[in-house]
Amino acid sequence: MYLEKFRKRSFRFLLCQFCEFAAAAALLLCSCDKLTGVKPKGLRVGFAQIANEGPWRETNTKSIKKEARKRNIELDFPELKDSKLKGGQQQPFQKAALLSFIKKKVDVIAFSPVVEDGWNDVLKEAKAENIPVITSDRGVSENDESLVATFIGSDFTEEGRRAADWLCKAFSQSNEIANILEVQGTRDSAPAIQRHLGFVAILSKPECQERLQIIESVVGNFNREEAEKVTTTFLNNGGSNRINAVFAHSDAMAFGAIKALKKAGLNPGCQITVVSVDATDKGCNKIRKGRLNCAVECKSRLGVQLFDAAEAAAKSMALPARIIIAEGVYDCSNVDHCGHD
Ligand code: AHR
Repeated sequence: MYLEKFRKRSFRFLLCQFCEFAAAAALLLCSCDKLTGVKPKGLRVGFAQIANEGPWRETNTKSIKKEARKRNIELDFPELKDSKLKGGQQQPFQKAALLSFIKKKVDVIAFSPVVEDGWNDVLKEAKAENIPVITSDRGVSENDESLVATFIGSDFTEEGRRAADWLCKAFSQSNEIANILEVQGTRDSAPAIQRHLGFVAILSKPECQERLQIIESVVGNFNREEAEKVTTTFLNNGGSNRINAVFAHSDAMAFGAIKALKKAGLNPGCQITVVSVDATDKGCNKIRKGRLNCAVECKSRLGVQLFDAAEAAAKSMALPARIIIAEGVYDCSNVDHCGHD
């Protein structure tokens, strides 16, 4: 009897001891960072951005940095100091950034390739080190799909098609022919190549081929000042009388072209129909002011999608080859819904 009681008591004692130990261990696990000052290791991501070309890029960078902070992601984001480097000249800087990420053995590499070609070697090095690479906003032309975990961004070809479609409808309504100055983005960049291809694809549709024609294409490098300069040169060389429409590959370049048109005594938004790609807040305001007729949306806030994909890639989860963001087209009929940055 006495022995039985003793056995029960020591069992209860042992159970209590075990529970106390388990509770202490759980507490220690949950708050080890508080006790030791060592934070649980967050994901380490290296991102190589393009130089700031205007409002679109600014919002894109902000969105990436904000989302990284929110998720406790350690973000390596080298800033391009030399603002004189234009377009493709930035490729060596981006390549050096990617190589440094590989050396540091980050968990995931992401970048927005300034131009489409010439990434094979560095991508192969990342693959050899088992570091997944995500292209964000702009893609690469490499046909070896195993080199890139996924692409996150817009369908640039569709954006070009949407711009031409809008112009085709607008000029059909007024029964006029659109004589277009195309202000292209950075030579050899994915958005410049694909927006142009999408645009000309619509030009050859039976209902549009008599309606739209590109009079000249100039390069503005996705930059406002450069677009103003090349548009001014075109207008001063007899272009003023040859066009009644502008298709700019970005809002920033549309702003530059609008300034050049005004300086040449032309009336953008009225006498000259202006269409751009981006639909940044500033672009939407230009529609409200009647200077920009249409902005095809290209979403810049990619932070959430980028780090969702980065977290999945770090866990070796399968990702689709392309994650395409849904986008709209804005003009004065729906400008109240326009604006995303
Ligand atoms: O790659 C996206 C393009 O780059 C945006 O349309 C443009 O504004 C940006 O600079």
